Amino acid sequence: MTIEIAPSILSADFGILREQVQLVEDAGARIIHVDVMDGQFVPPLSMGPQVCEALRDMGLHLEVHLMVDRPETIQVETFAAAGAGTIIIHAEATPAVDYALELIRSHGCKAGLAVNPATPLSIYEEIEPDLALCMTVNPGWGGQSFIASSIEKITRLRAIVGDEVVIEVDGGVDARTAGLCVAAGASRLVAGSAIFGQDDPARAFNDILNAATIRN
Ligand code: DX5
Ligand code: ZN
Repeated sequence: MTIEIAPSILSADFGILREQVQLVEDAGARIIHVDVMDGQFVPPLSMGPQVCEALRDMGLHLEVHLMVDRPETIQVETFAAAGAGTIIIHAEATPAVDYALELIRSHGCKAGLAVNPATPLSIYEEIEPDLALCMTVNPGWGGQSFIASSIEKITRLRAIVGDEVVIEVDGGVDARTAGLCVAAGASRLVAGSAIFGQDDPARAFNDILNAATIRN
């Protein structure tokens, strides 16, 4: 499976957001990860659909990570209309996981299902999303340390979902942890502070991509 790096704009400079995104697009990024936080499912508030609308004409695949309670009530529809190509919900955020994933697909988007570090993988034995996101930090903030036990969890996740499902990791990914994640079975890596927190985001993007693909 192709290894993809999805820069998270959570750590970008929002005063020059399009310029920041252009830097990583020029470096080869094809996916932008948009972290949406509601102040309920996770304590902070982050950004809304206006951010997708501001980026949607740039030709990148917008992957929206909904860290919100009950995403099926309105946010799935709202972000699909704002240009999302993939929408990821959390298993912990709703009892209507299956319904929410089908709702995402009904809007023409890829449907992702995320689990927090403390959540068992058993839901993936029952439901097959297009993308399985294994959180490698507890969600809510950028710049946290990668939880080392995630590597073994990624290995177990790959064994459950098989070869076709995209396995994404999110949190604490940098040039050091990227290769470990890919070796364990991850195919898409989110990186926020390790890209947009650096002086040269384009170079940082390439460093992570190289680290991820060489080891693989
Ligand atoms: C965490 C978010 C992540 C975050 C990653 O709640 O879901 O996408 O932006 O940031 P880094 O790469 O800095 O850990
Ligand atoms: Zn995220």
